[in-house]
Amino acid sequence: TAKPRLFSGMQPSADSLQIGNYIGALLQWREMQRTHDAIFCVVDLHAITVAQDPAQLREATRRTAAQYIAAGIDPEQSTLFVQSHVSAHAELAWALNTITGFGEASRMTQFKDKSARHGADATTVGLFAYPVLMAADILLYDAEVVPTGEDQRQHIELTRNLAERFNSRFGETFVVPEAQIQKASAKIYDLQDPAAKMSKSASSEKGVVWLLDEPTATAKKIKSATTDSEGSVRYDSAEKPGISNLLTIYSALSGTDIAALEDQYAGRGYGDFKKDLAEVVTETFAPIRARVLELLSDPAELDRILAGNADKAAEIANATLARVYDRMGL
Ligand code: ADP
Ligand code: NA
Repeated sequence: TAKPRLFSGMQPSADSLQIGNYIGALLQWREMQRTHDAIFCVVDLHAITVAQDPAQLREATRRTAAQYIAAGIDPEQSTLFVQSHVSAHAELAWALNTITGFGEASRMTQFKDKSARHGADATTVGLFAYPVLMAADILLYDAEVVPTGEDQRQHIELTRNLAERFNSRFGETFVVPEAQIQKASAKIYDLQDPAAKMSKSASSEKGVVWLLDEPTATAKKIKSATTDSEGSVRYDSAEKPGISNLLTIYSALSGTDIAALEDQYAGRGYGDFKKDLAEVVTETFAPIRARVLELLSDPAELDRILAGNADKAAEIANATLARVYDRMGL
């Protein structure tokens, strides 16, 4: 029997991934690629909805793909490609624009936030239509499952509405996808400010652990992470958010559950615990870092992998687009 189809997109970023992306997203995707027919897309067409530097964008797209491959997205087993390499994304987005209400699109809270952040002059029609392009990304592949963060729930809801609307107006065409919202237990917080989510853009300099950090820098950040004065290694996210965050990281990377870690460190101080955690993190990331550097040192090989995967994706996407055009009388 066919595995359920999964689609997930990621923004190209010049930054390294941070440990929250790794634990919150990548570890789950790596598991899911065994049980699903998984399609992962570096969404460079989404990236140009805000101002971009062309050379930097091209570099960010490669770096992002390299990191996902190095971290375990297998481009043989799954499909990992760059959005702009498959022209059906832009074409389906246009078709879907014509069945999207202006008022409906205006209600997207991400658009309101982003447009407030970038200012009226930088707010383009492209930024406004971003959620429709995202719907096209998902619907092109008949995706059943879309793993995503809570912040994307409204966009998945729009995708479902557009799929249902199209199906009822033009005949059964699209699979209506389900969002699979990330577990809160997989959420990682800023090491210096454990009330704030760790994030590429928002975290303090010492509060975020990057996949591509030097091991010594990683160890230093973990050793200076904010904890509390009680001194016992115990999970209590309300009263002890700092040590609880470190326990989450330790457990996710080692596969040892939190209760077992609490037993292991009973009667021992934070120093011991942090030293061991630093080792777990640097040992997890060392081979990934080496693989990223290897992939980036051979751009022709990376481009070859991405081109082959774009061909695999285009085969599915073009068939869907042909179905859509036919139904619409194009
Ligand atoms: P960032 O905030 O680093 O820019 P994105 O918003 O691009 O990350 O999210 C990429 C993926 O990583 C999403 O699936 C998101 O839910 C996940 N993610 C990002 N930060 C965290 C975090 N601190 N803890 C858990 N998952 C996270
Ligand atoms: Na973000």
